[in-house]
Amino acid sequence: MSLLRAENVTAGYGEMDILHGVSIEVREGEIVALIGPNGAGKSTLMKTIFGLLKPRSGRIWLGERDITGLEPDQIVRLGVCYVPQTDNVFPSLTVKENLEMGAFILDEKNLDARIERVYSVFPDLKRFHNTKAGMLSGGQRQMLAMGRALMLDPHVLLLDEPSAGLAPKLVELIFEKIKDINATGVSILMVEQNAKQALKMADRGYVLATGRNRFEGTGEELLNDPQVAKLYLGG
Ligand SMILES: Nc1ncnc2c1ncn2[C@@H]1O[C@H](COP(=O)(O)OP(=O)(O)O)[C@@H](O)[C@H]1O
Ligand SMILES: [Mg+2]
Repeated sequence: MSLLRAENVTAGYGEMDILHGVSIEVREGEIVALIGPNGAGKSTLMKTIFGLLKPRSGRIWLGERDITGLEPDQIVRLGVCYVPQTDNVFPSLTVKENLEMGAFILDEKNLDARIERVYSVFPDLKRFHNTKAGMLSGGQRQMLAMGRALMLDPHVLLLDEPSAGLAPKLVELIFEKIKDINATGVSILMVEQNAKQALKMADRGYVLATGRNRFEGTGEELLNDPQVAKLYLGG
């Protein structure tokens, strides 16, 4: 069943269109990878889905509900969380404070149970409970960014380049964590530069180029498509 769907979305900045009628969907329980060259519009699509950018035309659906034009805080309340590509933690706040900030829209005063649940997914973070996020390594920081999103117990998680800038071992670790999160029932849409690895773990994937859909299929189909391999996976 379709959980999150962008339908024929046109969006951009100022006068300029970046997305020209893009359509993608995430079905219940899936990991969906969004790949494509730099500047293709992948982050723009994520921002448009999350309400940070208003589409000029097209619609965004969450299940049966039309969420086109809603603000990010409304979309968060509907169970969709977004981890941006950069500046996704507060460096001067501790790990604990960052996690608490992640849940700022909740009325809940006592967030300890939620924080413990995040630590059960990312045990490494627990040691740094009172450490400022700015002191963490790149990998730890990325886990914290995902942890902040998990504080809200989302149904869908939008991850923009979760493995960016990480050493290969850490890329693997982050991907393992994404699989773990998915296994708890969270559907995932992720943008990735590590396209091969992302497609290996994804149920399905989309290739975007110059703001348009180019290819789509199961992770395996895209990996085995000679054109996709040649153009987008480095041969
Ligand atoms: N805030 C912005 N204002 C104007 N142009 C932008 C902005 N953000 C991105 N762009 C442009 O939109 C295009 C797509 O960018 P982006 O969605 O970040 O691509 P990707 O994530 O696929 O690398 C690029 O040409 C980029 O320069
Ligand atoms: Mg991007």
